[in-house]
Amino acid sequence: MALIELDEVSKIFGFGDAATLALDEVGLSVNKGEFVAVMGPSGSGKTTLMNVIGLLDKPSHGNYNLSGQPVSRLKPNQQARFRRDRIGFVFQFYNLLPNLNVLDNVSLPLAYKGMTPVRRAKRASDILELVGMREREYFYPHQLSGGQAQRAAIARALINKPNIIIADEPTGNLDSHDSKVVMELLAEIHRQGNTILLVTHNPELTRYANRVIYMYDGTIVGDEQTAIGQMARHARRIFFRKPRTTDNDIAAGVSAMLKDVPGKEVTAATKRRKAKGKKRTLRRRATRSKR
Ligand SMILES: Nc1ncnc2c1ncn2[C@@H]1O[C@H](COP(=O)(O)OP(=O)(O)OP(=O)(O)O)[C@@H](O)[C@H]1O
Ligand SMILES: [Mg+2]
Repeated sequence: MALIELDEVSKIFGFGDAATLALDEVGLSVNKGEFVAVMGPSGSGKTTLMNVIGLLDKPSHGNYNLSGQPVSRLKPNQQARFRRDRIGFVFQFYNLLPNLNVLDNVSLPLAYKGMTPVRRAKRASDILELVGMREREYFYPHQLSGGQAQRAAIARALINKPNIIIADEPTGNLDSHDSKVVMELLAEIHRQGNTILLVTHNPELTRYANRVIYMYDGTIVGDEQTAIGQMARHARRIFFRKPRTTDNDIAAGVSAMLKDVPGKEVTAATKRRKAKGKKRTLRRRATRSKR
């Protein structure tokens, strides 16, 4: 049985003329222990998909089963319990509370479980040790580097021992060194048997995944199994293609790379067809010049 099972899940924001179809009958099934990277251009529905899977948002239509349970029909407080115990979130901008120190930020989710402050602090300390942040447990978020803040956020995500980690562009705000530290941490969490869903714009990071799904306009347009350590095939194509930059892209500060979606496979047959077409044009040109 799949851990995560979406069946024709749609999400509509707004009403009437202003309605946006953010997810368009998405079907997806993820098994326990998979590391899934989610790629796709801005606005393609990646975050919406993560929020539905993470029970932060309800689908407008369709079914969502988590461990075989139809969770989209649960009451809000039942959903909240599911979310708290099963799912850990990591966001691009860390979402740490500025007026709490690292230790309190990390132990906060335990407060809702009625654990004593001493036990909470002990558990939080242990997890901070795990992410290499023990010596900064009394720091406040503004005193941390991006990488340190993200490691604290990962510790917070792990505190309830969830088995699904949803990371929405967790390295989007980090330099390459800090990105690596954070990704190695996610890789370690994956090796311990957890299921990871990672949204990223960086094709390099597909090396950590064993599956990549590509989204476009609210649908999944590609789904690729890939070996850990290797860049996914479609992602590689996006990575090494010369960006087709337009003035608008430059103005928006966005790389045109992100606009690419996996195209049709170029098969030997299409290559042959193309070559034949070229020969024919050359022949036609040749006869025309003779005339
Ligand atoms: N709360 C909301 N209200 C209205 N529209 C929304 C809302 N959230 C998302 N959308 C719309 O749904 C679509 C998908 O958005 P989503 O945030 O899922 O994209 P994304 O793939 O995560 O993009 P990015 O790479 O920029 O983070 C977009 O067209 C967006 O404008
Ligand atoms: Mg997003």
